[in-house]
Amino acid sequence: MADRVTVIGWDGAPLSAAARTALGSATLVAGGARHLDAVPLPDGAERVVMGNVHVAARRISEHRGSAVVVASGDPGFFGIVRILRRPEYGLELEIVPAVSSVAHAFARAAMPWDDAKVVSAHGRELRRAVNVCRAYGKVAVLTGPGSGPAELGLMLRDVPRTFVVCENLGTDQEEVTMLAADMAADRTWSDPNVVIVVGPNPVTSAPAGWIAGQRPTFPGPVRGWGLPDDAYDSAGAAVTRADVRAAALARLGPRPGDLVWDIGAGSGALSVEAARHGAAVIAVDRDPVGCEHIQANAARYGVEVQVVAGTAPDTLSRLPDPDTVFIGGGGLEVVAACAARRPERVVTALKALESVGAVHHALTGAGYEVSGTLLQSSRLVPAGGQAHRLAPDEPVFVLWGERL
Ligand SMILES: C[S@@+](CC[C@H](N)C(=O)[O-])C[C@H]1O[C@@H](n2cnc3c(N)ncnc32)[C@H](O)[C@@H]1O
Repeated sequence: MADRVTVIGWDGAPLSAAARTALGSATLVAGGARHLDAVPLPDGAERVVMGNVHVAARRISEHRGSAVVVASGDPGFFGIVRILRRPEYGLELEIVPAVSSVAHAFARAAMPWDDAKVVSAHGRELRRAVNVCRAYGKVAVLTGPGSGPAELGLMLRDVPRTFVVCENLGTDQEEVTMLAADMAADRTWSDPNVVIVVGPNPVTSAPAGWIAGQRPTFPGPVRGWGLPDDAYDSAGAAVTRADVRAAALARLGPRPGDLVWDIGAGSGALSVEAARHGAAVIAVDRDPVGCEHIQANAARYGVEVQVVAGTAPDTLSRLPDPDTVFIGGGGLEVVAACAARRPERVVTALKALESVGAVHHALTGAGYEVSGTLLQSSRLVPAGGQAHRLAPDEPVFVLWGERL
């Protein structure tokens, strides 16, 4: 095992005294080529250019002497520390952090960022990062080759988003560019870069919240979910009843990084509650007035819901692939069209007896394992004086399919 391993962050600023001291006595220095070129290496020190980080970690653990690893920004934040801490390398680390590229980027954009989500698409598929950008109004994306600003712009072209692309922070080639998401797709960007993605209403002057990564007001004025129907502005538009909504949400299991389709969204109560769980949501309804209610309800609960006014299944072909789908209306044709996009789960609410068998058959045939339940509930209502009675709700089948 190396006698000492110091991990130094590099952000383009002059190195701290602690970093210089560690480097001065290093017998092995490891890092990316651009980091090794940026710091002074002591004469005679072994230089290890990191390609495969696991190979480098093994080499460091076998080194006899003082090893230094140079990495970008804060190495403890989406960085090398997580790998070097693996028990198989048996390393004890000292960490000298620099300013993270994310902090650097928000500083360049002159924005507070305690309310921002940070996601990494570095070496990962971009889809989940994109869905977080759909769901939240302030997100920093750590990018990578093939998952950069152009690809991000292409995948977010249907939502109103502004990018602040920060290339080569802390270097002579530093560039900071603000542009609409769809404009980013047509350009070539240099690595490394961080993209700040903001929605139409970035709240930069609101009072600070108490928890990082979400707006101070999130998740809206009312605790819980499966909220009473009158918690939503509907004025005639359909509201998926509270107990049906709760059961459907439990089966959908919305979470950050997911995209949920809510088809036949009515007033958007289910959409809003899925968004309050951190998922990106596209609500589809053919009634333009209903669509206005969806927008109003989303705004009231401080969540982002993308509303598509149109008739399913025709409108569905231009939407990005969902992880889960709730079908509140539309019939068998819509069920088939949704299942054809292979979401993990499809959840439906049905009243007509005949629909239950048909939907069961359609989902099974499309490769889903289908389960269901009949919800029969009665609400407690005042019956004069101290008395109450039970008012029965219309029975509803909730049928759901899990992709096999
Ligand atoms: C593995 S992550 C490391 C993050 C690092 N630990 C930090 O705190 O900045 C690598 C990503 O960080 C971002 N990054 C690192 N250095 C950067 C720089 N100088 N300018 C812009 N982005 C940078 C890029 O998104 C890059 O793909």
